Amino acid sequence: MSEKKYPCPSFPHMIHGADYNPEQWPQEYWDRDMELMQQANCNEMTVGIFAWSTLEPREGEYDFSYLDTIIEKIGEAGGKVILATPSGARPRWLAEKYPEVLRVDAQGNREHIRGRHNHCPTSPVYRQKVRAINEQLARRYGNNPTVIAWHISNEYSGQCHCPLCQKAFQEYLKEKFHGDIGELNRAYWTTFWSHTYDRFDQIEPPGALTETGIHGLNLDWKRFITRQTISFIENEIAPIREHCPHLPVTTNMMYEFTDLDYHKVAQVLDFASWDSYPEWHNGDDTVIAQRAAFWHDVYRSLKQKPFLLMESTPSLVNWKPYNKPKAPGLDTLSSLQAVFHGSDSVQYFQWRKSRGSSEKLHGSVVGHDGTADTRVFASVQRTGDVLRKMDRVAGTLTDAPVALILDWENLWALDDCQGYAQKDKKYFETLYSYHRVFWERGINCDIVAPDAELSGYKLVIAPMLYLTSQATAENLRAFVAAGGTLYGTYMLGTVDENDLCHLGGIPGCGLNEVFGITAEEIDTLYPGEVRHADLGGKCHRLVDYCETLRLRDAQVLCSYADGYYKDTPAVTCHSFGAGHAIYQACRDEGSLKEEILEQWLYKLGIHSEVLGTLPHGVTCHSRTDGRFAYVFLENYLDQAAPTVQLRQPMTDLITGETVERCALPPYGYGIFQYEKGAKP
Ligand code: GLA
Ligand code: ZN
Repeated sequence: MSEKKYPCPSFPHMIHGADYNPEQWPQEYWDRDMELMQQANCNEMTVGIFAWSTLEPREGEYDFSYLDTIIEKIGEAGGKVILATPSGARPRWLAEKYPEVLRVDAQGNREHIRGRHNHCPTSPVYRQKVRAINEQLARRYGNNPTVIAWHISNEYSGQCHCPLCQKAFQEYLKEKFHGDIGELNRAYWTTFWSHTYDRFDQIEPPGALTETGIHGLNLDWKRFITRQTISFIENEIAPIREHCPHLPVTTNMMYEFTDLDYHKVAQVLDFASWDSYPEWHNGDDTVIAQRAAFWHDVYRSLKQKPFLLMESTPSLVNWKPYNKPKAPGLDTLSSLQAVFHGSDSVQYFQWRKSRGSSEKLHGSVVGHDGTADTRVFASVQRTGDVLRKMDRVAGTLTDAPVALILDWENLWALDDCQGYAQKDKKYFETLYSYHRVFWERGINCDIVAPDAELSGYKLVIAPMLYLTSQATAENLRAFVAAGGTLYGTYMLGTVDENDLCHLGGIPGCGLNEVFGITAEEIDTLYPGEVRHADLGGKCHRLVDYCETLRLRDAQVLCSYADGYYKDTPAVTCHSFGAGHAIYQACRDEGSLKEEILEQWLYKLGIHSEVLGTLPHGVTCHSRTDGRFAYVFLENYLDQAAPTVQLRQPMTDLITGETVERCALPPYGYGIFQYEKGAKP
């Protein structure tokens, strides 16, 4: 790896900024905001989000005066602008005149204008109105040097059940099944309960009063929502591509989000960005940190390049059950965490705390007192100072030897299936439990789609990959055949892309050959029920699932210690081609996978930038431009961490000193650099 990739190529720097809504404030605040922006060590403002009623107060009557002024002021103050399109919420006139832009819910009720993020993605009127205002914005600001990127809409989410969406869904299926309703019936197994379709126009989206028992249909509806959202985004982007093709576009994504397949959404974006709001201090902060790390890894991996942390709170949010500020120290650490995982920005929601409406108590850089004299402002300043000192890290990439497969289609199919533990299949939790093994050991981990290019990884983990298409199976098989180590688990390869069970033994699509086993039955344990597995004389606790295996030609790594399957294989390993396929048939509480993966990390020569074991609560990540490695140490505990020994002498980017050992204070971090290939 020897390059830099900047999310915003016209501004190859670390970005420090915030969502800024000056249209909510009288003009006399604006100059003060510019002074404060400089004092806060900020260099960017994201403007225009939810500003439609200011920009187009009446249909076709545009007024860009506020935006003209504010972009100019930000530019003069040395800042840059990420400009948003306003489609996340619509002006009242638009909803009033064209009710078709309003969403219809799963009960069939057309919503009123209420809230935001609730437009119909199909409505031709809405698309046309969005396109018209985006066209104006792109023409007017697309070549303004202060503008460095486009923020398309805001947090796309949800689904619409209106007649237009239903029709578009039918068209989507007609195309997918080549106009052949018989093909659809076979793919959906509709003879079951006599639900055979005669025509495409009989198909209704799954909803409160409609068909929800056809799993293939449910899955295609979710795919359709993603497809329709993408086509809505493409319509938003088209004028930008026309008038300012040099400017990159993104949209802000979310935590544990399940409505859209972000792997597909990312394909139409130039870089990924997301809004991160972990619930710090609610329980074990190392767990919260690791889960936040997981999602940073997701967004970096989406485009395999730096992403932006588009929103985060400098202190607290106002929409959780309990809204607690981040502890002093953790505020900066949690911001930098994003950068350590590949973000080229720290951005906040929001700059100036709104005075009224639902977010008036949300954390912000500038509070209602309007000064720079607050604790939160000082911490934002400090974060900005660190970002400046590590500016050379901007654009650098993340070298990850390990990848974890995350698949939204698999999540949808798993959640929809009736069986196993009915209520909560714990897909994300299971992914987190594998990710934690690498987080605790300071090893970079990518999180990728099942069809991702895997050849660059030494180790790939595919937890609970229940839905496995032929293409995925081939991708996994090729990875192992070429020498990779693949780690699969219970439920792997159960259904195909139409949610039809694989026949002839699972894991299906030939994966049973790769793993050298056939999965036979699965015992879903009751809550509180525990089984055990023996690995080299050590007993590990198992919960939730114990699958029984028929061995083909795999080697048994460990067996069940109890249950009717006592002494039968619980974890196996199989040599296949030049690689290995490990199969974990049971869900463990952590220690079993840790022990097995630890051995494989050793075998594969995968280690962190620190010698020995990292202390509890401390982790380590890195980025590189090919020539230099940038190493980050993070302590998520409110206690000082024991000294750790770096693998070689490194330069501390904050102090300029050369260091070999590092003792982190509570919520402390270290930012180091060394030249690769240089003799330690
Ligand atoms: C989301 C939205 C913002 C704001 C914040 C509050 O991320 O994008 O507009 O509502 O939440 O935390
Ligand atoms: Zn609709």
